[in-house]
Amino acid sequence: MAILDILTYPDQFLETITKPVKEIDGKLQEVFNNMAETMYAAPGIGLAATQVGIDQSFLLYDIAPQDETRALNILVNPVIVSKEGEILSENEGCLSVPDYRADVKRAERILVEAYDRDGNPLRFEAEGIHAIVLQHEIDHLNGTLFIEHISRLKRQMYKRKIQKRLRRE
Ligand code: NI
Repeated sequence: MAILDILTYPDQFLETITKPVKEIDGKLQEVFNNMAETMYAAPGIGLAATQVGIDQSFLLYDIAPQDETRALNILVNPVIVSKEGEILSENEGCLSVPDYRADVKRAERILVEAYDRDGNPLRFEAEGIHAIVLQHEIDHLNGTLFIEHISRLKRQMYKRKIQKRLRRE
């Protein structure tokens, strides 16, 4: 296994709209394993393919607290079929948006269709933190970062901070 580089804003690859996975082969299974290792090492609770420079539709997440047994989920070609309600995702963060957190409005409950890592079809409802993580990660697969969901003013402030930092480096 290997730790992969996680792309960070303003890397334009993060705006990539992914293509559906057509076949889950041994090579892709290895990518899943590497991404899992990368996510746990970060540490993070979710990681989408675009964040490691892959333009295909899959994501990993594990919302179990760190001191519990790992509960890794891998979703291939995930789609949000329906959304319901509204919840404030407090202090949302992202491995691709370092040193920044913000409150984001998310749907409270979602219905998701996807495939697992073995290609079995899944259809399930998620709510609360589970729904928030899935919306965040599925956004990544559509080229959207969580800072696109905050106010324009806050987003501009973040972008200016990053530009300043990049000029210093
Ligand atoms: Ni993220």
